[in-house]
Amino acid sequence: MMQRTLIILKPDCLQRNLLGEIIKRFENKGLKIAGLKMGKISDEQIIEHYSQHKDKPFFGNLQKFMQSAPVIFIVLEGYEAVESIRVIVGPTLGRKADAGSIRGDYSMSQANNIVHASDSPENAEIEIKRFFQPHELFDYYKDDWRWVYHEDERPA
Ligand code: CMP
Repeated sequence: MMQRTLIILKPDCLQRNLLGEIIKRFENKGLKIAGLKMGKISDEQIIEHYSQHKDKPFFGNLQKFMQSAPVIFIVLEGYEAVESIRVIVGPTLGRKADAGSIRGDYSMSQANNIVHASDSPENAEIEIKRFFQPHELFDYYKDDWRWVYHEDERPA
């Protein structure tokens, strides 16, 4: 199934000059960029986005970190993209993530782990709506999908 998912390139990604590197990995994989912008996350958005962590002791630090610099919001599209991107990103704790994953290759931290990726198709839909207006998302023909996918997998 074709899916869209929300990526946030976190402040450590920007500060460590890794934006191009990380976007390149998603491009290399064959994912389509449906939306991309830079911005600051508001207090309200942080509380909503990390609602499952709002009572945890690290919430204050998480909020401070996520608001310490602008972030890059990206909507990526692809066949079963949500799960595929979680594999590319790797688990939360960077220092134990597999080499080859983004966190495995670039993060030593549990907090500063470079990138956020939606964890389910349901959350992806909610998160995309949280950060993108409909007119900021683009439908277009991605030329290399003729080669990235078999014809059974890609949209007509
Ligand atoms: P992620 O797995 O994308 O979503 C939850 C985020 O909370 C996680 O990335 C980290 O950025 C942050 N986080 C998780 N555990 C901790 C922690 N112990 N201290 C600070 N931040 C954390």
